[in-house]
Amino acid sequence: MKFPDDFVWGVATASYQIEGAAFEDGRGESIWDRFSKTPGKVLNGDTGDVACNHYHLYKEDVALIKNLGVDSYRFSIAWPRILPDGRGRVNQKGIDFYKRLIDELLQSGVSPAVTLYHWDLPQVLEDMGGWLSRDTAKYFADYAMVVFDELGDVVTSWITLNEPWCSAFLGYGNGEHAPGKKDFAAHLRAAHNLLLGHGLALQGYRQLNLAAEIGITLNLSPQYPASSSPEDLAAARKADGFQNRWYLDPIFKGSYPSDMEELLTLVDPAIRPGDLGLISQPNDFLGINFYSRGLIAADKDGRPQGQKPERSVTAMGWEVYPEALYDLLVRVHRDYGPTRLYITENGAAYEDHLENGQIKDKERQSYLEAHIAQCARAIESGVPLKGYFVWSLLDNFEWAFGYDRRFGIIYVDFETQERILKDSALWYRSFLRR
Ligand code: FCB
Repeated sequence: MKFPDDFVWGVATASYQIEGAAFEDGRGESIWDRFSKTPGKVLNGDTGDVACNHYHLYKEDVALIKNLGVDSYRFSIAWPRILPDGRGRVNQKGIDFYKRLIDELLQSGVSPAVTLYHWDLPQVLEDMGGWLSRDTAKYFADYAMVVFDELGDVVTSWITLNEPWCSAFLGYGNGEHAPGKKDFAAHLRAAHNLLLGHGLALQGYRQLNLAAEIGITLNLSPQYPASSSPEDLAAARKADGFQNRWYLDPIFKGSYPSDMEELLTLVDPAIRPGDLGLISQPNDFLGINFYSRGLIAADKDGRPQGQKPERSVTAMGWEVYPEALYDLLVRVHRDYGPTRLYITENGAAYEDHLENGQIKDKERQSYLEAHIAQCARAIESGVPLKGYFVWSLLDNFEWAFGYDRRFGIIYVDFETQERILKDSALWYRSFLRR
């Protein structure tokens, strides 16, 4: 496998999934605090109150990151730590935490890649309508400006939003994630307001003339037809429109996909003149989170239906299909031409067994190896892929699955907060040394 010398290797996490210290130092409540405490929403009633206690153990965690030999660490900032009321009053202690973390990273020679929104919306803003309200886009941009102002001189790379599809659809469409609303039509308004927030933050950022690059991260997944029948082809195209193009098109083309008529009717009322111009301002890179593919057949009404995986699956039930990553990269490069691309997340949950202080997670290691190989193939085919981040540095709070699904290359004992490098971490380290 060949990679350019300046290729960025990293590991990734997100604030609510690892920080803990949920109500310390003035942090406000987020929608995930509220949601995880609502009975029945998260497996085993788990919450992020303590998580990996990273808020207190960040020095140890940065030492682990350094020890892996990665170039960059992707983490997210908890909006309610910075602005406990969602807007207005700034909580200095929140800012200070991220300054300490970034100092520690820079001293360790690791560059900070910062996500501004990885799903922990301040609950007060949700009470005012959350992402269903257009005002939230503006508040997001205001929050982003506070962060740019405080950390703009030390951050290497900015990601405005992580996976707006998840925030919108899982949060407001099917209710599997916070804030747990279930309204398909409304979720498209949430998606639009999220994209608008991205656009407004990007516009503000450009006025500051800072050196760091800025982009957005989407969760993309190729949707393959289950057969070559015209019905299945059309259904796969629809699934692709819903999952991928609904976000890629506005960002790179300034329009929603014209073949998705039903969705267009639903989102139209939310769009105001100028919105799509803001959303499609040039960004410096596109971040892609890739886990799996979709295999799609048409039901009797022509609607897309996910089919049973053909190959092995991870503990999430997600099919392991590394070639889909190659197909995706080549396609995004061809159809949208982003200046640069990063894989901002890729990884797998498996059932880990701790034996004699070791975790022999062969499957996770092969998953990573196989996907990294597809990245090398894509680069060879001319895709401007500039970096790869493993999800995740640590086992953590996996949203609706709580602590039950382990994605870390480092094992976390949630009773003692002990960290143990899994074999996949040892492999990643020696791969990076080579
Ligand atoms: C992505 C999320 C990330 C993590 C992985 C498994 O959708 O961005 O926080 O939960 O899935």
